[in-house]
Amino acid sequence: MNGRLIPNLELSSNEPQSYYLSCSTADSLVDYDRGPNLVDAPDMGDGLFIGREAELKQMEAILLQNSHSLTRKVLILGGMGGIGKTQLAITYAKRHHTSYSSIFWLNATSKSALTASLQRLAPQILPGETINQLDDDQLWAQISLWLSKLENPRWLLIFDNYDDPNQYQIEQYYPFVAHGSIIITTRQPDCVNGYQIKVQSMTNNEDSLNILATRSGRPNVSSGNDNSLTTM
Ligand SMILES: Nc1ncnc2c1ncn2[C@@H]1O[C@H](COP(=O)(O)OP(=O)(O)OP(=O)(O)O)[C@@H](O)[C@H]1O
Ligand SMILES: [Mg+2]
Repeated sequence: MNGRLIPNLELSSNEPQSYYLSCSTADSLVDYDRGPNLVDAPDMGDGLFIGREAELKQMEAILLQNSHSLTRKVLILGGMGGIGKTQLAITYAKRHHTSYSSIFWLNATSKSALTASLQRLAPQILPGETINQLDDDQLWAQISLWLSKLENPRWLLIFDNYDDPNQYQIEQYYPFVAHGSIIITTRQPDCVNGYQIKVQSMTNNEDSLNILATRSGRPNVSSGNDNSLTTM
Protein backbone atom coordinates (compact mmCIF):
# COMPACT_ATOMS: atom_id res chain seq x y z
CA MET A 1 0.00 0.00 0.00
CA ASN A 2 1.52 3.33 -0.91
CA GLY A 3 -0.18 5.46 1.71
CA ARG A 4 -2.32 7.12 -0.90
CA LEU A 5 -5.42 5.61 0.61
CA ILE A 6 -7.99 3.98 -1.64
CA PRO A 7 -8.03 0.38 -1.27
CA ASN A 8 -10.58 -1.15 0.79
CA LEU A 9 -10.61 -4.41 -1.05
CA GLU A 10 -13.64 -5.57 0.83
CA LEU A 11 -15.62 -2.78 -0.75
CA SER A 12 -18.48 -3.70 -3.01
CA SER A 13 -20.11 -1.21 -5.34
CA ASN A 14 -23.17 -1.29 -3.06
CA GLU A 15 -21.46 0.33 -0.12
CA PRO A 16 -19.86 3.53 -1.30
CA GLN A 17 -21.47 5.63 1.40
CA SER A 18 -19.83 3.86 4.31
CA TYR A 19 -16.47 3.96 2.53
CA TYR A 20 -16.95 7.64 2.08
CA LEU A 21 -17.47 8.34 5.72
CA SER A 22 -14.71 6.09 6.98
CA CYS A 23 -12.16 7.74 4.70
CA SER A 24 -13.31 11.32 4.88
CA THR A 25 -10.48 12.55 7.07
CA ALA A 26 -7.75 10.94 5.01
CA ASP A 27 -9.40 12.19 1.82
CA SER A 28 -8.57 15.77 2.56
CA LEU A 29 -4.90 14.79 2.33
CA VAL A 30 -5.17 13.15 -1.04
CA ASP A 31 -4.12 14.88 -4.19
CA TYR A 32 -6.65 14.40 -6.96
CA ASP A 33 -4.70 16.16 -9.68
CA ARG A 34 -3.87 13.69 -12.46
CA GLY A 35 -3.75 16.25 -15.29
CA PRO A 36 -4.74 15.49 -18.90
CA ASN A 37 -4.49 11.78 -19.77
CA LEU A 38 -4.87 11.70 -23.53
CA VAL A 39 -2.04 9.40 -24.55
CA ASP A 40 -4.41 6.76 -25.90
CA ALA A 41 -6.58 9.32 -27.69
CA PRO A 42 -6.21 9.41 -31.49
CA ASP A 43 -4.90 12.94 -31.47
CA MET A 44 -4.03 14.25 -34.93
CA GLY A 45 -1.18 16.24 -33.44
CA ASP A 46 -0.64 19.91 -32.86
CA GLY A 47 -1.27 22.26 -35.71
CA LEU A 48 -3.47 19.95 -37.79
CA PHE A 49 -6.84 20.73 -36.17
CA ILE A 50 -8.61 23.44 -38.14
CA GLY A 51 -11.68 25.55 -37.43
CA ARG A 52 -14.66 24.41 -35.31
CA GLU A 53 -14.48 27.60 -33.25
CA ALA A 54 -18.29 27.85 -33.04
CA GLU A 55 -18.56 24.30 -31.69
CA LEU A 56 -15.71 24.90 -29.23
CA LYS A 57 -17.47 28.01 -27.96
CA GLN A 58 -20.70 26.04 -27.51
CA MET A 59 -18.78 23.40 -25.56
CA GLU A 60 -17.23 26.06 -23.34
CA ALA A 61 -20.64 27.58 -22.66
CA ILE A 62 -22.03 24.23 -21.59
CA LEU A 63 -19.07 22.80 -19.72
CA LEU A 64 -17.28 25.77 -18.23
CA GLN A 65 -20.09 28.03 -17.06
CA ASN A 66 -20.83 27.58 -13.37
CA SER A 67 -17.90 25.20 -13.28
CA HIS A 68 -17.86 25.36 -9.49
CA SER A 69 -21.46 24.23 -9.11
CA LEU A 70 -21.87 20.67 -7.96
CA THR A 71 -23.86 19.40 -10.89
CA ARG A 72 -22.70 16.84 -13.38
CA LYS A 73 -22.49 18.08 -16.94
CA VAL A 74 -22.98 15.63 -19.77
CA LEU A 75 -22.26 16.88 -23.27
CA ILE A 76 -22.97 14.79 -26.34
CA LEU A 77 -21.12 15.41 -29.58
CA GLY A 78 -23.30 13.73 -32.19
CA GLY A 79 -22.84 13.37 -35.91
CA MET A 80 -22.07 11.04 -38.74
CA GLY A 81 -18.90 8.98 -38.98
CA GLY A 82 -15.75 10.88 -39.84
CA ILE A 83 -17.31 14.30 -39.33
CA GLY A 84 -14.81 15.30 -36.61
CA LYS A 85 -16.43 14.51 -33.22
CA THR A 86 -13.40 12.79 -31.73
CA GLN A 87 -10.97 15.49 -32.84
CA LEU A 88 -13.29 18.16 -31.46
CA ALA A 89 -13.42 16.46 -28.06
CA ILE A 90 -9.63 16.06 -27.96
CA THR A 91 -9.08 19.67 -28.98
CA TYR A 92 -11.48 20.91 -26.30
CA ALA A 93 -9.63 18.82 -23.68
CA LYS A 94 -6.21 20.10 -24.76
CA ARG A 95 -7.37 23.69 -24.93
CA HIS A 96 -9.02 23.65 -21.51
CA HIS A 97 -6.87 21.22 -19.57
CA THR A 98 -6.14 23.82 -16.90
CA SER A 99 -9.84 23.97 -16.06
CA TYR A 100 -9.77 20.35 -14.91
CA SER A 101 -7.79 18.55 -12.24
CA SER A 102 -7.89 15.32 -14.29
CA ILE A 103 -8.96 14.43 -17.80
CA PHE A 104 -9.33 10.83 -18.94
CA TRP A 105 -9.98 9.73 -22.53
CA LEU A 106 -11.79 6.41 -22.80
CA ASN A 107 -12.50 4.28 -25.85
CA ALA A 108 -16.24 3.57 -25.65
CA THR A 109 -16.53 1.77 -29.00
CA SER A 110 -17.51 -1.42 -27.17
CA LYS A 111 -17.78 -2.62 -23.60
CA SER A 112 -14.53 -4.56 -23.95
CA ALA A 113 -12.73 -1.52 -25.38
CA LEU A 114 -14.01 0.57 -22.49
CA THR A 115 -12.89 -2.04 -19.97
CA ALA A 116 -9.43 -2.02 -21.57
CA SER A 117 -9.33 1.79 -21.33
CA LEU A 118 -10.28 1.62 -17.66
CA GLN A 119 -7.51 -0.89 -17.03
CA ARG A 120 -5.02 1.52 -18.61
CA LEU A 121 -6.40 4.41 -16.57
CA ALA A 122 -6.37 2.53 -13.26
CA PRO A 123 -2.64 2.92 -12.45
CA GLN A 124 -3.16 6.69 -12.43
CA ILE A 125 -5.56 6.27 -9.55
CA LEU A 126 -4.98 2.99 -7.74
CA PRO A 127 -1.87 1.25 -6.42
CA GLY A 128 -0.66 -1.58 -8.63
CA GLU A 129 -1.08 -4.24 -5.97
CA THR A 130 -4.73 -3.26 -5.63
CA ILE A 131 -5.39 -3.36 -9.36
CA ASN A 132 -4.03 -6.89 -9.60
CA GLN A 133 -6.65 -8.12 -7.16
CA LEU A 134 -9.70 -6.58 -8.80
CA ASP A 135 -11.95 -7.96 -11.49
CA ASP A 136 -13.33 -5.58 -14.11
CA ASP A 137 -16.45 -4.65 -12.12
CA GLN A 138 -14.48 -4.04 -8.94
CA LEU A 139 -11.97 -1.98 -10.87
CA TRP A 140 -14.71 0.28 -12.19
CA ALA A 141 -16.24 0.49 -8.69
CA GLN A 142 -12.93 1.74 -7.31
CA ILE A 143 -12.38 4.24 -10.13
CA SER A 144 -15.95 5.47 -9.76
CA LEU A 145 -15.41 5.85 -6.05
CA TRP A 146 -12.32 7.99 -6.61
CA LEU A 147 -14.21 10.18 -9.09
CA SER A 148 -17.09 10.45 -6.65
CA LYS A 149 -15.14 11.92 -3.76
CA LEU A 150 -16.56 15.27 -2.81
CA GLU A 151 -13.03 16.66 -2.81
CA ASN A 152 -12.61 15.58 -6.42
CA PRO A 153 -15.25 17.42 -8.49
CA ARG A 154 -13.09 18.87 -11.29
CA TRP A 155 -12.57 15.92 -13.60
CA LEU A 156 -13.51 15.41 -17.24
CA LEU A 157 -14.23 11.99 -18.72
CA ILE A 158 -14.36 11.59 -22.49
CA PHE A 159 -16.27 8.52 -23.65
CA ASP A 160 -15.22 8.43 -27.28
CA ASN A 161 -17.05 6.64 -30.11
CA TYR A 162 -20.04 5.35 -28.17
CA ASP A 163 -21.67 4.21 -31.38
CA ASP A 164 -23.43 1.04 -30.30
CA PRO A 165 -25.94 1.86 -27.54
CA ASN A 166 -27.64 -1.49 -28.12
CA GLN A 167 -24.54 -3.26 -26.85
CA TYR A 168 -24.31 -1.54 -23.46
CA GLN A 169 -25.57 1.51 -21.58
CA ILE A 170 -22.96 4.22 -21.17
CA GLU A 171 -24.81 5.56 -18.12
CA GLN A 172 -23.63 2.59 -16.10
CA TYR A 173 -20.17 4.11 -16.38
CA TYR A 174 -21.12 7.47 -14.91
CA PRO A 175 -19.70 7.92 -11.41
CA PHE A 176 -22.55 7.82 -8.95
CA VAL A 177 -22.29 11.37 -7.64
CA ALA A 178 -23.62 14.45 -9.38
CA HIS A 179 -20.39 16.29 -10.13
CA GLY A 180 -17.73 16.28 -12.82
CA SER A 181 -18.00 16.62 -16.57
CA ILE A 182 -18.57 14.01 -19.26
CA ILE A 183 -18.20 14.30 -23.02
CA ILE A 184 -19.63 11.51 -25.16
CA THR A 185 -18.95 11.31 -28.86
CA THR A 186 -21.46 9.20 -30.75
CA ARG A 187 -23.08 8.63 -34.11
CA GLN A 188 -26.32 7.99 -32.22
CA PRO A 189 -26.84 11.09 -30.07
CA ASP A 190 -30.54 10.49 -29.58
CA CYS A 191 -29.80 7.41 -27.49
CA VAL A 192 -28.02 9.41 -24.77
CA ASN A 193 -29.31 12.13 -22.46
CA GLY A 194 -27.45 15.38 -22.04
CA TYR A 195 -26.63 18.67 -23.72
CA GLN A 196 -26.32 17.95 -27.38
CA ILE A 197 -24.14 19.52 -30.04
CA LYS A 198 -24.69 18.28 -33.56
CA VAL A 199 -21.35 18.23 -35.34
CA GLN A 200 -21.88 18.94 -38.99
CA SER A 201 -19.69 19.15 -42.02
CA MET A 202 -17.56 22.24 -42.19
CA THR A 203 -19.36 25.02 -43.98
CA ASN A 204 -16.47 27.42 -43.92
CA ASN A 205 -14.66 27.07 -47.24
CA GLU A 206 -11.52 28.56 -45.76
CA ASP A 207 -11.36 25.85 -43.07
CA SER A 208 -11.70 23.13 -45.68
CA LEU A 209 -8.92 24.70 -47.71
CA ASN A 210 -6.73 24.98 -44.63
CA ILE A 211 -7.19 21.28 -43.90
CA LEU A 212 -6.29 20.45 -47.47
CA ALA A 213 -3.25 22.71 -47.27
CA THR A 214 -1.92 21.26 -43.99
CA ARG A 215 -2.51 17.67 -45.12
CA SER A 216 -1.09 18.05 -48.57
CA GLY A 217 1.88 20.03 -47.37
CA ARG A 218 1.02 22.68 -49.96
CA PRO A 219 0.47 25.94 -48.06
CA ASN A 220 -0.93 27.80 -51.03
CA VAL A 221 -4.02 25.78 -51.80
CA SER A 222 -6.83 28.10 -52.83
CA SER A 223 -10.17 27.89 -54.56
CA GLY A 224 -10.49 29.38 -57.98
CA ASN A 225 -13.37 31.60 -59.01
CA ASP A 226 -15.31 28.57 -60.11
CA ASN A 227 -14.83 27.03 -56.64
CA SER A 228 -12.48 24.41 -58.04
CA LEU A 229 -9.35 23.82 -55.95
CA THR A 230 -6.00 24.88 -57.25
CA THR A 231 -2.49 24.92 -55.81
CA MET A 232 -0.16 27.79 -56.38
N1 LIG B 1 -11.18 20.11 -37.32
C1 LIG B 1 -10.43 19.27 -38.06
N2 LIG B 1 -9.33 19.72 -38.69
C2 LIG B 1 -8.58 18.91 -39.46
N3 LIG B 1 -8.88 17.61 -39.69
C3 LIG B 1 -9.97 17.10 -39.11
C4 LIG B 1 -10.81 17.90 -38.25
N4 LIG B 1 -11.82 17.13 -37.81
C5 LIG B 1 -11.63 15.92 -38.33
N5 LIG B 1 -10.53 15.88 -39.12
C6 LIG B 1 -10.05 14.73 -39.89
O1 LIG B 1 -11.11 13.82 -40.05
C7 LIG B 1 -10.78 12.56 -39.46
C8 LIG B 1 -12.00 12.01 -38.79
O2 LIG B 1 -12.29 12.79 -37.66
P1 LIG B 1 -12.86 12.14 -36.32
O3 LIG B 1 -12.17 10.86 -36.02
O4 LIG B 1 -12.84 13.20 -35.30
O5 LIG B 1 -14.34 11.82 -36.79
P2 LIG B 1 -15.51 11.20 -35.94
O6 LIG B 1 -16.71 12.06 -36.15
O7 LIG B 1 -15.07 10.98 -34.55
O8 LIG B 1 -15.73 9.82 -36.69
P3 LIG B 1 -16.27 8.44 -36.11
O9 LIG B 1 -17.76 8.55 -35.95
O10 LIG B 1 -15.89 7.45 -37.19
O11 LIG B 1 -15.57 8.16 -34.84
C9 LIG B 1 -9.63 12.85 -38.53
O12 LIG B 1 -8.78 11.73 -38.36
C10 LIG B 1 -8.92 13.97 -39.19
O13 LIG B 1 -8.06 13.47 -40.17
MG1 LIG C 1 -14.84 9.34 -33.37
